[in-house]
Amino acid sequence: AASKSVVVDGKSYIEDEYTNVTPKILSFIGTNNHNRCGHPLNLFKQRLVDFFYDHFRGRTGNPIFSIYDKINPVVTTNENFDSLLVPKDHPSRNKTDSYYLNKTHMLRAHCTAHQSELIKMGLDNFVVFGDVYRRDEIDATHYPVFHQADGVHIFTPNELELINGTNVNVFDNDKNNSNDEKQGVYSKEANEIVTDHLKKTLVTMIKKVFGEEIEYRWISEYFPFTHPSFELEINYNGQWIEALGCGVIRHEILKNAGAGNRIGWAFGLGLERLAMPFYSIPDIRLFWSKDSGFLNQFQNLPKDGRMKYKPISIYPQCINDISFWLPKEKQFCSNDFYELVGNYGGQLVEQVKLIDQFKHPNTGNVSHCYRIVYRHLEKTLSQAEVNEVHKLIEIKATQILGVKLR
Ligand code: PHE
Repeated sequence: AASKSVVVDGKSYIEDEYTNVTPKILSFIGTNNHNRCGHPLNLFKQRLVDFFYDHFRGRTGNPIFSIYDKINPVVTTNENFDSLLVPKDHPSRNKTDSYYLNKTHMLRAHCTAHQSELIKMGLDNFVVFGDVYRRDEIDATHYPVFHQADGVHIFTPNELELINGTNVNVFDNDKNNSNDEKQGVYSKEANEIVTDHLKKTLVTMIKKVFGEEIEYRWISEYFPFTHPSFELEINYNGQWIEALGCGVIRHEILKNAGAGNRIGWAFGLGLERLAMPFYSIPDIRLFWSKDSGFLNQFQNLPKDGRMKYKPISIYPQCINDISFWLPKEKQFCSNDFYELVGNYGGQLVEQVKLIDQFKHPNTGNVSHCYRIVYRHLEKTLSQAEVNEVHKLIEIKATQILGVKLR
């Protein structure tokens, strides 16, 4: 029998039990908002690029960081997970969390997916910009496609010495000497120089973008591909928001990529997450707006690049709930329903979340109740329009997910 396949960018991938990409998700590929002239994500990206070009220069004044912004978002599961030491049972590998073309290929869930390959190519200093794909709930700050910047800085022994002033041993003689602060293989000294350099660089970057006065704090984090790992948070209007994740690259990754004699740092950040406070953009879906009322506001920016987005107008919300019994024969996960709502509700849906669940004491049947908040970004919706879409979602949920409406 002929097998079905998914075609992306002219390449076909044979479908299997892992395939969960939808036509809607595939339609985002190639939009490249981060490369579109005048798009706020492109403007914001340019600020980061300028920082890396200015801040790191070689002996003759040339920039030492290379920028990659056109790498295909289709990656192997090896690139996205294994090459980064993500454990086999890590939840991010789950079909419910990532978009798979098939068992071996997926849409990258982070730009870190390219780290190992680029190091293998011999690169030491680079930043990758790109679109990333994750299955998630829908609200003002979550969308299944968003954009990231991922940077790597690998030091030569010479560079470490220059920063430190004197000779530095990169490695520890006692390889078992690992703790919360460092990997066993690296010397305490080298680890400290690199960690300090990482934190200083990223704080300088954030201050360069948001201004000297920006309030920030460091938090310890865990990533499978770095140790130690940190998160940088910034205070925006009295709220702490996560600005980026970073850490000292796991030595095993460098070793596997042919740079086993080195030490280096890496970071990753979400462009929308930072561009939203930077431009006061209230809803992540606006980045996909084709309305001139949105994009025109980013023309002729002042010299410092800063501007405050003015909402075109605020349209009222329409709230409809949906309750159903979960199928007994089939697996059901909330992300399947969120995605279905995104597919059939499209630009009309502002939020969808699980608000109640209930298990029948006698039958053991489980029911879920979801609240769907409808609001169009650019017009007032009539109840009739909303009802039509809501009805469609009910029908599709019954047909596709096998739920039974209550
Ligand atoms: N890939 C991580 C994320 O998507 C961010 C990260 C990149 C953290 C590189 C550490 C080093 O959240």
